[in-house]
Amino acid sequence: MGITLEVPTNTADQPRDFPSGVADGAHPAPGEDRAAHLTGAELAGQLIGDARQIRVLTGDRPTGALHLGHYLGSLRNRVRLADAGAELFVLVADYQVITDRDASASIADHALGLVADYLAVGLDPARSTIFAHSAVPALNQLLLPLMSLISVPELERNPTTKAEAAASGRPALSALMLTYPVHQAADILFCRADLVPVGKDQLPHLEVTRTVARRFNTRYAPVFTEPKALISDAPSVLGSDGHKMSKSQGNTIALQAGADETAAIIKGFKTDTDRHITYEPEHRPEVSNLVLITALCRGEDPQTVAEQIGSGGASALKQAATEAVNEHLRPIRARRAELAGDRGYLSAILRRGAERATVEAEATLAQVRAAMGMAY
Ligand code: TRP
Repeated sequence: MGITLEVPTNTADQPRDFPSGVADGAHPAPGEDRAAHLTGAELAGQLIGDARQIRVLTGDRPTGALHLGHYLGSLRNRVRLADAGAELFVLVADYQVITDRDASASIADHALGLVADYLAVGLDPARSTIFAHSAVPALNQLLLPLMSLISVPELERNPTTKAEAAASGRPALSALMLTYPVHQAADILFCRADLVPVGKDQLPHLEVTRTVARRFNTRYAPVFTEPKALISDAPSVLGSDGHKMSKSQGNTIALQAGADETAAIIKGFKTDTDRHITYEPEHRPEVSNLVLITALCRGEDPQTVAEQIGSGGASALKQAATEAVNEHLRPIRARRAELAGDRGYLSAILRRGAERATVEAEATLAQVRAAMGMAY
C-alpha cells in the first residue's frame, strides 16, 4: 500500500473578501505550482536520502475508540513513516471535542484510549511525541497572531467547517468551530511539521494552515514551513452498512473489539446476491470491501484473495475476513488490553509528550514574537 502526497490547489488566497491590507503581498507568484504528487516509494526515498529528518504531525479527536478503518487508512502509515525515520508528532485534539459538543465525563477515557491505541499499533513513545494540544499553552497562544492573518469570510467558506457544523445539529456555529482550522494551523505550525497525513476531508484545513503560514512569512519574517498533506491511497474502508466506516455511523469494528464480537459484526456486513466473489470496487462495493479488508490484513493483493474465494460465496468471504482481521489484530489487541489497565503509564506518556511539545512551541512562539517586533 503506497502513500500519495497531495498539495491541494490553493483557493484561499483569493483576495475577494479579505480586509484590505492584511493580504498584501500574500498572493502566490504567477505560475507558481505547488501541486505535487509523491508515491510511497518516492517518499521512502526522500526519507532515506534526506539528511534532515522529515517531521510529520497528525492527530485525532478523542471521541471514541479507534477502529479498523482508522488503522488500515492511517495508523499503519504513521507507524511506517516513523519506522522509515520520520520524526512523528501525534496530537490528541481534545479542544476540538468542544467544537461540536459539550466536554463529556468520558473525555479522559477517550484521550487515554487513543494513547493506548497508538502504542498498541506500534508507535514508539520514545521516538514519537504523543501529546494533548490543551496541555501546551504556547501552542494555543500561537492562535492569536495566526487569527489576524485570515478573514471571517474565508473561514465561513471552509467546506469542512460547514459540514461539521451541519452534522453537529446545533442551531448556530460556535466561534470555536469557526476558528478551529486556525487552531489546527497552530497544531501543525508550532513544530514546523513538513507533512500532515490526513483524510481528504481535512484538505481545506490544511489549506488554511498553508495560507496563514505564507502570510506570516510574507508579512513578518520566514518563520514557518508550509506543510504538505499526505493522503493515503488506501481506499477507504466501508463499515457493516456499506457506508464509510466511521464512529458516528456506528458501523465499525473497533481495534479493541474481541474476536467473537468481530465475527458477529462481519457476519452482519452487507453483501450482494452474486455468489461468485470478485474484486470490483466500482460495481460491487460491499463485497469488494470485505475482499480488501481481508487482503490488507493478510498483506496480499485483493484480486488474488477474490480468486481464492471464488465460488465460495459470501459466507466463505466473511469467514476469510473474520480470520484475517482477528489474526492481524490479535497482537495489537493483546498489547492494548495490557496498556489500558495502566492509566498511570498512559498519562505519563501524555505528560512527557506535552513537555517535549512545549519546548518546540515556546521556541516557535519566541521566533514569532521576535518577527513581530514583540520581543521586549
Ligand atoms: N481535525 C482533525 C480531525 O477532525 C484532527 C486534528 C486536529 C488534526 N489537529 C490536527 C489532524 C492537526 C492533523 C493535524 O480528524
